Amino acid sequence: MTKEKFSFRLSGTDGAARLGQITTPHGTAQTPIFMPVATQATVKGLTFDEVRNAGAETVLSNAYHLYLRPGVDRIRDAGGLHRFMGWAGPVLTDSGGYQAFSLGALRRINDNGILFRSHIDGSEHLFTPEVAIRNQQLFGADIIMCFDQCVFSAGDRSDVRAAMDRTHRWARVCYDTHAPTAYSGVQALFGIVQGGTIPEFRDESTELVTSIPFDGYAIGGLAVGETKEEMHRITRQVCEGLPSDKPRYLMGVGSPEDLVNGVALGVDMFDCVLPTRVARNGALFTPTGRINIANRRYGDQDVPLDETCDCYACQHYSAAYLRHLFKAGEMLGPRMASVHNLRFVLRLMEQMRDAIAGGRFVEFRDRFLGAYQPTDE
Ligand code: GUN
Ligand code: ZN
Repeated sequence: MTKEKFSFRLSGTDGAARLGQITTPHGTAQTPIFMPVATQATVKGLTFDEVRNAGAETVLSNAYHLYLRPGVDRIRDAGGLHRFMGWAGPVLTDSGGYQAFSLGALRRINDNGILFRSHIDGSEHLFTPEVAIRNQQLFGADIIMCFDQCVFSAGDRSDVRAAMDRTHRWARVCYDTHAPTAYSGVQALFGIVQGGTIPEFRDESTELVTSIPFDGYAIGGLAVGETKEEMHRITRQVCEGLPSDKPRYLMGVGSPEDLVNGVALGVDMFDCVLPTRVARNGALFTPTGRINIANRRYGDQDVPLDETCDCYACQHYSAAYLRHLFKAGEMLGPRMASVHNLRFVLRLMEQMRDAIAGGRFVEFRDRFLGAYQPTDE
């Protein structure tokens, strides 16, 4: 197999929705894409054969978790993240900034980086943009992310500005750390736009981050407590300012309805723990919305939960059997629910790609959103 460099090809559009292909040294992936999350180098409960059979082409891992455990050198010595975890396809790693902020106890931030305590053993660690890039280089991911500061609360204006300015300085450091090395030939580096929910800041961040020639651009700082309307408004605004020849990645999104709305606004890439996280609690996606399999009404349904679904669970088991697995606390329950939810969102992406290719995306979106009842989180 020849090792291909990273590239993105836009092959079609339908309104703002885009159809494309990402090429990496570990294979290609069709966009718009949903990337299942393998935080700890595993999509919880599933083998990577199961993840691939559900239709996944790229998975995401977290540099923060893998740095703390099993460690950067361990994964490098194992031959890199792909070999270590047994996934041959493209991998994207998040830089660790977001996780250090949300998980690290006693974090202290200054312009150099983030000093934090491990959520595992309380040990103290310093992440800088240089360290975040170095870790991701050694993991060997196909796509690596800039080290950024996400503002979680609406925050006051000066906090949002400070985090954004820091993210911009770090974006430059990340680029300058990665670009001159041999790694940059095989690992794509994406910039991240921040700026909270303040429109002027989002414009400023889009302009600054796109002034650096990253391989792709992510929209960060969304799905962190703002309203859906704000999320759509900001996504639309940022997408309008991003170059059309580079992939666009909306980080940490989503739910089925957010995926459809994101694609409609011109997003190419998504990742989210939601489908697998809620699955482990028995919440399963159906064309009319999310249901809980523990509900009594599934007790005598000797037919698949979703007759339209081609996943392993729906092809082999009834809703009544899945309910029984959850009621009995059997581990096959959360596993099959994860397979189903992953297949649901991955098939949704396939359906959206077909609709874009056929010039009927708006029709598809309206039909999907008309039938699907979102769940308030
Ligand atoms: N995952 C979800 N949101 C974000 C973000 O703003 N930054 C990073 N690095 N990862 C994220
Ligand atoms: Zn299914």
